[in-house]
Amino acid sequence: MLVQFIGLGYIGLPTAAVVAHKGVKVHGVNVNPHVVETINKGEIHIVEPGLREVVRESVEAGTLTAATEPVAADVHLVVVPTPFKGVYEPDISFVEAATRKLLPLLKDGDTYIIESTSPVGTTEKMAELIFRERPELEGRISVAYCPERVLPGNVLHELVHNDRVIGGIDEASTAKAIEFYRLFVEGELHATNARTAEMCKLTENSSRDVQIAFANELSLICDKAGINVWELITLANKHPRVNILQPGSGVGGHCIAVDPWFIVADYPKESRLIGTARELNNYKSFWCAEKIRNAMLEFELKHGRKPLTALMGLAFKPDIDDLRESPAKYIAQKVMQSEQDNFLVVEPNIEEHSVFKLTDVDEAYERADIVAFLVAHKEFKALDWRDHKVMLDFAGVFKRS
Ligand SMILES: NC(=O)c1ccc[n+]([C@@H]2O[C@H](COP(=O)([O-])OP(=O)(O)OC[C@H]3O[C@@H](n4cnc5c(N)ncnc54)[C@H](O)[C@@H]3O)[C@@H](O)[C@H]2O)c1
Repeated sequence: MLVQFIGLGYIGLPTAAVVAHKGVKVHGVNVNPHVVETINKGEIHIVEPGLREVVRESVEAGTLTAATEPVAADVHLVVVPTPFKGVYEPDISFVEAATRKLLPLLKDGDTYIIESTSPVGTTEKMAELIFRERPELEGRISVAYCPERVLPGNVLHELVHNDRVIGGIDEASTAKAIEFYRLFVEGELHATNARTAEMCKLTENSSRDVQIAFANELSLICDKAGINVWELITLANKHPRVNILQPGSGVGGHCIAVDPWFIVADYPKESRLIGTARELNNYKSFWCAEKIRNAMLEFELKHGRKPLTALMGLAFKPDIDDLRESPAKYIAQKVMQSEQDNFLVVEPNIEEHSVFKLTDVDEAYERADIVAFLVAHKEFKALDWRDHKVMLDFAGVFKRS
């Protein structure tokens, strides 16, 4: 059996490597020749614990090879990006481009699976495209969708141990796709149809987004009411059937801050709660930026000089180096627009940044008049509270106001 992965990024490469490490022959495809070259040398172009060893061993064993062009294979997995276009419209052109490349190579008995996070109906659309161009394959190949739900940093474990939801365009396709995932997944494999599987991925991330929006809304109310939101949530969660998540400076990353829009774009009238939650979480970042600006103005009025403000954190969540769709980065850009010199930017998880000049945690904490905690990194949790500074803890670093 030959398994082909189209797209060798954060999801495609680890999955390809795990399958290849099981002794199955894998052909990985990426449009970027640098990525292909790197992998064929047994090296990796992304950061993920343990991945380097699995790739190197698979390349050395001859089970993993990479190329810029696809080949004929038995199982084809599409793991390419699905970003936005325009105003929060899902862009499935990468999935379509990858599928078109496969068209001349597909043959009787093949299994075609999309793993890219996709709007509802994408798998059926791709099946229509395949059968329009290759009508003789209708009923002779399996077409399915299987979303990915791994946590960056723990991908190799979760790829094997997480449950998977697998939905084909018909029952035979579902069964064939399940057969493939049994090769390497130890979690349960749940059969459904393609539309439900697509919606399941979008639902998981929308659920997190809506729940965080509730916590963020509470934080806005508590700020006005003079109540410590962290204490409030801790106390409310003492109720045996209440479990409120934590507020923060917004919601970021390339999944939770993106996927709910895939539902809103297609079902705008029906997805009012999901759309409002997305807007509220975006608004929370704007609100944090306003709070910082106001604190700076108050300080200047009181002390007759401009304050030095430390912005603590740029990543989209604690203890990672990923700045994609980061609310902290958005806040920093917004408040620093005109007066870069009055700010110190701290991000202990990266060495340097092309836009922000980074300052060491302790130095920034000592020198700043105003300290705005945008992310609850572990380095910040080790700091002691300073009563004589203006402290803006948007991330719950100290779990006090
Ligand atoms: N990264 C995550 O944590 C995560 C989690 C769950 C789901 N997803 C979803 O998985 C999909 C892939 O995400 P990712 O993080 O691996 O993306 P990525 O950008 O890291 O990797 C995608 C790769 O595909 C390549 N590519 C693009 N078009 C191609 C084509 N036509 N042929 C061959 N290669 C092509 C790109 O060069 C890139 O290297 C997305 O839909 C994403 O939403 C990602």
